[in-house]
Amino acid sequence: MFKDLKKFTYAQKLKEWREKVLEVPEYFDGMENLHDNIHPGKLWLQISDIQNLSHDTKLYRLIPAKSTKILPPFRAGQYIGLTVEINGVRTARPYSLVSSPNQHAYYELCIRKKEDGFVSVYFYNNSDIGDIVECTEPLGTFYHNSLFHGENLVFIAGGCGITPFISMLRDISERMLPINIWVLFGCLTEGDIIFRQELEDIKNRRSNVKVQYVLSEADSGWEGECGFITQDIIKKVIGDVKGKYFYVVGNRDMYQFVFKELEDLGVPKHRITYEAYGNPDDVVKVIGWPSNLNSSNNVEITIRYIEMNQVKEESFEAPCVEPILNSIERNFSSKLKIESGCRSGACALCRTKLISGKIFMPPEVTIREVDQKFGYIHPCISYPLTNLTLDLM
Ligand code: FES
Repeated sequence: MFKDLKKFTYAQKLKEWREKVLEVPEYFDGMENLHDNIHPGKLWLQISDIQNLSHDTKLYRLIPAKSTKILPPFRAGQYIGLTVEINGVRTARPYSLVSSPNQHAYYELCIRKKEDGFVSVYFYNNSDIGDIVECTEPLGTFYHNSLFHGENLVFIAGGCGITPFISMLRDISERMLPINIWVLFGCLTEGDIIFRQELEDIKNRRSNVKVQYVLSEADSGWEGECGFITQDIIKKVIGDVKGKYFYVVGNRDMYQFVFKELEDLGVPKHRITYEAYGNPDDVVKVIGWPSNLNSSNNVEITIRYIEMNQVKEESFEAPCVEPILNSIERNFSSKLKIESGCRSGACALCRTKLISGKIFMPPEVTIREVDQKFGYIHPCISYPLTNLTLDLM
């Protein structure tokens, strides 16, 4: 036993020494570090550069806060969760990685200041070069899978939804992958087309990449496509939908619109994958929301948790139209840390046991069958319809 302890202490010291004096050249520098390098869970990153992309969007370059640490590898299309503390409220939001997965020196994130946004506005206005931020490791399943998706891909993006596609395009272009890409990029005005120069550059250099912008609030001088990304525009740009695989990224309203257009074009559901950002802008308008509830209705949320080895229970009032996770963060950030990643019901990091009460989830959200069976919810995308009791122990 004493021998084992000695061995462990020696190994621990050796590991610390190696971290201090040796630069880690690759992900593999000994089995003991391999897992931690690829799946560190949390990351501490430093903002090394900030670039204005448009009147309301900035590009942030992030490097490891400690020079001996490396960035975990990721697949083009994945995201990281960015954690912030704003006036005592600790919360997180997912942002797609824009940088190419082929270089390992930095990550890039693109943040658009959403008019009524909480995290985006705070981060946009307050973060600076040199700041250190807490993030999750790269997460998400939104990436190209050649076996299931094939080699004819249609990328449909709304606004900042172009970011995972930029990473994918960089990857495909850098590795000269034999994949045909049609990009349909919907923006409000010409000034909102971020990464335009790069998209044009890739399009001009690669015959397998086509790009079409669609502006919903175009100025009179705009000669390209106007309006929304309708089935007519999709058909005009990509031709036959057969044999093509569709990726859609944008807000939930845009996704619902595009999904219907694709459905009408005869694209089967299993040929469409999507990444819908965040919660619905107005959950009251979502199909299935009970008509007797509106933004003035409040409920009581009771949570059970452990503090100093004791089971405690506390309640607070919350609006029906606010995601449960946001309400908990607003009321309990000082006592509890709830992990979150996607904030849209996909990653299951926030899964929580529902003891009693009724919740609402937008119909397009699917949670794992096993979670449903054993009474777990994803509070990031669930809304309280009645008084609730949750188990956070
Ligand atoms: S944060 Fe991903 S499911 Fe809730």
